[in-house]
Amino acid sequence: MLTRTWTRWLLMHGFLRTYLRWSARRGEPLGNLALYPDSLLGSSPYIEEIRQQGRIPRISGVHITADYEICRLILRDRRFGVVSPNHPALPKPIRWMLAKTDPGLPNIGEPPSMLVTDPPDHTRYRRMVGHAFGPKAIAALEERVAEVADDLIDRLDSNPRPDLISDFSAQMPVTIIAEILGLPEDMHPTLLKWGDSGAPLLERGLAWTTYRDAVKDLAEVKQYFDQQLDRLEAEPRDDVLSMLVANDELTRREQVANAALLLDAGFLTTVNMLGNGIALLTNHPDQLELLSARPELWPNAVEEILRYDGPVRMTGRVANCDVDIDGQHIRSGSLVLLSLAGANHDPAVFPDPQQFEVTRDNAAEHLAFSSGIHGCLGARLARLEGAIALRALFERYPDLRLDGPPIPHPLRNLHAYRSMPAKVSAG
Ligand code: HEM
Repeated sequence: MLTRTWTRWLLMHGFLRTYLRWSARRGEPLGNLALYPDSLLGSSPYIEEIRQQGRIPRISGVHITADYEICRLILRDRRFGVVSPNHPALPKPIRWMLAKTDPGLPNIGEPPSMLVTDPPDHTRYRRMVGHAFGPKAIAALEERVAEVADDLIDRLDSNPRPDLISDFSAQMPVTIIAEILGLPEDMHPTLLKWGDSGAPLLERGLAWTTYRDAVKDLAEVKQYFDQQLDRLEAEPRDDVLSMLVANDELTRREQVANAALLLDAGFLTTVNMLGNGIALLTNHPDQLELLSARPELWPNAVEEILRYDGPVRMTGRVANCDVDIDGQHIRSGSLVLLSLAGANHDPAVFPDPQQFEVTRDNAAEHLAFSSGIHGCLGARLARLEGAIALRALFERYPDLRLDGPPIPHPLRNLHAYRSMPAKVSAG
């Protein structure tokens, strides 16, 4: 079993990791981008270097873009597909080995997770759950989201030096997504643990130990969801998992994979939007003053947080045929890396991109939720949670201050804080 896991790691991550390290040692932007977390920030000099080389340059054998229009175009262009281990562009022996070593676990970065599946299967998966995250369903959650935020903030009252990641930002989204899925409250700590170990699976070039630990937890995730779905099949309830299991268009493996995706996607990124937002706002007291005078700006402040420091920094697509973009020939099977953070700092679209301005007119045009058919399914929910939770926190504690610099998460593609000690006192 361990040999199979190791072989899969080698094919999916190990060779790439070695190549990226070699590339970083030669000072190439691709290696730096892949290995050093801060190099993926929209404001990093590596992103600037890419921009200076053109709108979609080819660097170390890979096309990369930090150009807003080109990112958006590619994300919406059906001639590009997602990066997946069974992509036909991969050499046949590699695909064969990957198929042979597939453990059938609900890995959110591998099919049949909808995030990494192309149509027609993608269309089938997304249709199954789409309406649970549509405008009507999310508007109906507003009161509950406010209640959860107030309850968490009440608890901070008795904790004058809380950690705003573990005591607030992480609790809010896990509570809401668990309720949407119908998972019990006593599972929250386990769900958070699974999320923590599963998050790196969205990246490529992982260290062996990180991959091994994540896969170990995935076996527990599979067992839990299998049992949960069995129960709901026998006694359906009014939740999204019951809806998934009632649909015989999806195999059990597809149901479990997409249930695990909804769970992880439902809180991993939102935790970081809240954490990054708190860090930005406490660093920009002038913007907080504006929000205090004009609270109707909160939804736009959330858009600006997502533009300035969105949790997902990069995604990728593979050309399904030869494509010409802006004078560059992209051959069928080529990988294109799309710097969402770079696009959100493109001065051609966002003037003075390094300024954090909650009144920015076009902040909501950011690509933090991606775009096209894979555009974030939970964007509406994340926006609602962001505006309610951040407003409630800063209205209760106008003098909220961080107690030292927040501790960054070692993840590369998710911009996240692991811990954020703070001092709170009600105003
Ligand atoms: C601030 C919070 C969030 C951010 C920044 C975010 C970001 C993203 C991004 C960038 C993608 C697309 C990646 C790509 O194109 O390759 C995505 C997809 C997705 N997100 Fe989110 N997300 C957030 C919250 C949520 C929430 C609350 C849910 C709730 C379930 C969710 C569910 C999903 C799902 C299911 C997909 C896959 C969609 C598909 O492939 O069709 N996300 N998200």
